[in-house]
Amino acid sequence: MRHWLRNGHVSAMACVPQWSANSTVLLGALVGLVDRRQLHLRDPFGQRLELHLQVLDPLLQEGLLAACGLSCPVLDTRPRDPLTLPSDRDHTGRDLGTEELELLRQAVESGHLNSTGGTLTPRFEAEFAARHGLAHAVACSSGSAAVHAALGALGLQRGDEVVTTPITDMGAVLPIAYEGAIPVFADVDAGTGNVTAESVERCLTQRTRAVIVTHLFGQPADTAAIVALCRPRGIVVIEDAAQAFLAEHAGGALAGTVGDLATFSFQQGKHLTTGEGGMVVTDDSGLADAVARFVNKGWGYGDAQPDHDRPGLNYRMTELQSAVGIAQLAKLDGCVDRRRASAATLCERLADLEGARGAAQFTLPRPQPGTSHSYWRFALLLDEPAGTSDALLPDRLGARLRDLGVGNAPRYVKKPAFDCAVFRDPGRFGPLAGAFASAPAEPLGSRETHPGCYRLLSRVLVLPWNEQYSAAQVDGIAAAVRDAWLAETGVRDGGRT
Ligand SMILES: Cc1ncc(COP(=O)(O)O)c(C=O)c1O
Repeated sequence: MRHWLRNGHVSAMACVPQWSANSTVLLGALVGLVDRRQLHLRDPFGQRLELHLQVLDPLLQEGLLAACGLSCPVLDTRPRDPLTLPSDRDHTGRDLGTEELELLRQAVESGHLNSTGGTLTPRFEAEFAARHGLAHAVACSSGSAAVHAALGALGLQRGDEVVTTPITDMGAVLPIAYEGAIPVFADVDAGTGNVTAESVERCLTQRTRAVIVTHLFGQPADTAAIVALCRPRGIVVIEDAAQAFLAEHAGGALAGTVGDLATFSFQQGKHLTTGEGGMVVTDDSGLADAVARFVNKGWGYGDAQPDHDRPGLNYRMTELQSAVGIAQLAKLDGCVDRRRASAATLCERLADLEGARGAAQFTLPRPQPGTSHSYWRFALLLDEPAGTSDALLPDRLGARLRDLGVGNAPRYVKKPAFDCAVFRDPGRFGPLAGAFASAPAEPLGSRETHPGCYRLLSRVLVLPWNEQYSAAQVDGIAAAVRDAWLAETGVRDGGRT
């Protein structure tokens, strides 16, 4: 049985079997609660019951609970409104303004909105490549298109294998099968969610043609170690930096500059947005040319005798997207700097929670040694012994945080890519049927083969992160996480610090 006071409510929480209807009746009767609006019962996880009793006088609250045979530690009795935070879904959390409008006006006035004859897309590509210190960038219509074009540039054959991560956006996985190749899922580190040189090495075979290295949440994976493994074997390394703009590997190399190719997404919620959009970058002019052909229906613009010389698609970015992209790129450093600074503040505010509290464990997303994180998301790790409760700790803490106005995604994508319906029976879909025709009929992954992946997904609570958070809002998030954590792990004494 646990109970506490917070936000002017008495909250008591108990396992359902231990909570007697009499307790509720007694509590209600004691405060003369004929008005049931003052008494709420919540059963958020099907196992535990939360009782919220809206009586503001703490002495009365304690007396009431004592009369019902419950002792009541005080957590926080100060009324607090739920936080309202900037969101990347609208103008509150996006920096879109006069700079974007001015370039959009230029695009519209030019009368040419398609990139093949426009000037803004080549300009965006040149500026994006320059910011990464690379020779080439090819703009395209989405991050998924960018991954597809990067793979399309490799001329994969049916039966080839591409190693990737099971924790990513599906748009980064399915292009492998569309190119006739078999996705092979490497396990991830249970702390970062990133593949490692060791997990990738276990997946390499004679048929491996490429490895996709995703920098999850903005934390760079150890790409150099994976490149060292792959280059002598002639295997291409593609960095998926969709979540890691301007993140730095150990030694300072930007995310996207260590592999042979890299892909980015400019979808609404990314550090740099054009609504939808993507980019492929590389130093290799042959690969850049192949990517450009792929996003242009296999057409070689500028060739003496152009022809559709490969099965590319129309994955072009428009001049309107490029107009916004140029303006957004100029703001990117500031955006990443602000995210880093506010994430560092939150880590500082919550540092004392790190480590064990009873059987539960709290870990902050600090950058891996020598690297810099770009905080697309702020991913907490929460552990408790298996079987402690039917609902996992991230789900329980996530529900508390939502009540306090802090949106979140417990367990991120919830399940590994290989557990998604599309891979359960790949024969139902043409591209997958073709790709898997030559694949061994083994499962693509399991708890035994991918322990790091399942562990990460069971312990991660993903908080949205945003460059527009004010210092007061970061303090508010810190207070909410602290309260939720202390309440969830059974605070006995307290108050906010
Ligand atoms: C790591 C990663 N790769 C690829 C993609 C696909 O990008 P898009 O949504 O722009 O197609 C995303 C998601 O948005 C992503 O987070």
